[in-house]
Amino acid sequence: MAKTGGLGDVVNGLSYELAIRGNHVEVILPKYDCMRYDRIEDLRVCYEDLWVPFDGQWIHCTVLEGRSEGINFLFIDAHGEWNAFNRGVLYGHRDDAARFTFFSRAALEFLFKSGRRPEIIHCHDWQTGLAPVMYYEIYNGLGWNDARFCYTLHNMGHQGRTGAQLLSQCGLNAHGLMNHGQLLDDQHPHTVNMMKGGIVFSNFITTVSPTYMEEIRFSEQGQGLQGVLNRHGDKVGGVLNGLNYGVWNPELDPFIPSHYGPDNLPAKFANKAALRNRLLMREAFKPIVAVVSRLDPQKGVDLIRHSISVALANNCQFVLLGSASEAWINDEFWRIKHQLNDNPDCHLEIGYDEELSHLIYAGADMLVIPSQYEPCGLTQMIAMKYGVVPVVRSTGGLADTVFDANYADKPFEERNGYVFNDLTHDGLESAMGRAIGLWHRFPDYFRQLRLNGMRQDYSWNQPGQDYINIFNHIRVK
Ligand code: ADP
Ligand code: GLC
Repeated sequence: MAKTGGLGDVVNGLSYELAIRGNHVEVILPKYDCMRYDRIEDLRVCYEDLWVPFDGQWIHCTVLEGRSEGINFLFIDAHGEWNAFNRGVLYGHRDDAARFTFFSRAALEFLFKSGRRPEIIHCHDWQTGLAPVMYYEIYNGLGWNDARFCYTLHNMGHQGRTGAQLLSQCGLNAHGLMNHGQLLDDQHPHTVNMMKGGIVFSNFITTVSPTYMEEIRFSEQGQGLQGVLNRHGDKVGGVLNGLNYGVWNPELDPFIPSHYGPDNLPAKFANKAALRNRLLMREAFKPIVAVVSRLDPQKGVDLIRHSISVALANNCQFVLLGSASEAWINDEFWRIKHQLNDNPDCHLEIGYDEELSHLIYAGADMLVIPSQYEPCGLTQMIAMKYGVVPVVRSTGGLADTVFDANYADKPFEERNGYVFNDLTHDGLESAMGRAIGLWHRFPDYFRQLRLNGMRQDYSWNQPGQDYINIFNHIRVK
């Protein structure tokens, strides 16, 4: 799976859920060089010479096909100058809008020419925003009429704003689409907004939690797309992401030394010792407060930084695993890491490490998530499954999944963490202080909070059914 954050988890988990319910699921991806293909069985060329029209040329592509856990994976490999997916990283280039639009066009061309006729094409985020536009504007005219589009918004912070020349590059009528406003960014003149295209042209739009849908429709969090979402209010809805318990389950997890579940919680603590051992931290009667996150402004980097000193000042140990999205953030966390170098109660791991993330969830006692905004958030759900108490800001999917230990609006067995509202040091300190205080003074009660989280069902079961209902609603009958 090509994963740098939650989107990879979600496409994997939802596809698997749909497949075990008897649906035929195929995932189409660019053939990235930086992806591991060893878990794809039977990888072979399934379409040798796919010629894709783009930027006034015909680009030669090959499509590979393989299987993993009941899901068909298709990889589009472009040759020549359009081979833009062999750059060692998944995204982050100046020509990303063109790269992903080329990929979208190639995927449609493949489906069209190979005669595969999916009932539903499910696109994600701005990168594939022009796929439904191209389908309705180009392929419908060629007689392909039976596909319907579901478009999922994972993050309004990235909308794919780009120049209008991209439209003619991918074969769309730039003049018409911009003049009619369907792709025109509402805030920047002469600018294409790819995500807006996805919203206008898809048959249904979801966000990854109900609260995030509310926030983006009715507040500045829509980042300019509130109007278009509300104009299309009859085809939008929030579906909370699930967790793939085949991957995230402390009873089976191959990356942790001691397996455990709600019925043998004490076995969790051998993982705490293993985590300390691996990170060269000392053994101590202290809770481990952790952060596992992309270090991006969205995630509340200032409060993440502050959580280190709050934890250390309150008799805790602290572990961070973070991948920085910008150079200044990277530099800042390296600076802190050097400052804390000889502190045996603290470890900062700067980078992306899937395996270590599993051990951190298994070994930690609390996970801090002070996001500015959070469309869904998976780490709080993973934390709960691993008996870690989440301390979160009340926003988006965090608000839909974490219920404060002290709020009486939920029965006790549904309370599973600590929540704060204000995006300030005080807000964070009060929630962390309550969680840490409970760990030190009322261990039985803290244990009960862990168990409440572990017993909640954040699997794909319900969201899988919600997506099937949406697909049934829009598909051609
Ligand atoms: P986002 O997609 O915005 O990054 P999510 O909470 O939805 O946030 O998903 C994050 C996913 O990426 C989780 O599976 C988390 O464990 C993982 N993750 C985040 N940062 C790292 C990292 N530095 N190393 C390994 N895994 C990470
Ligand atoms: C985005 C969001 C995150 C969400 C993930 C998967 O990366 O930032 O909140 O959980 O997508 O939907």
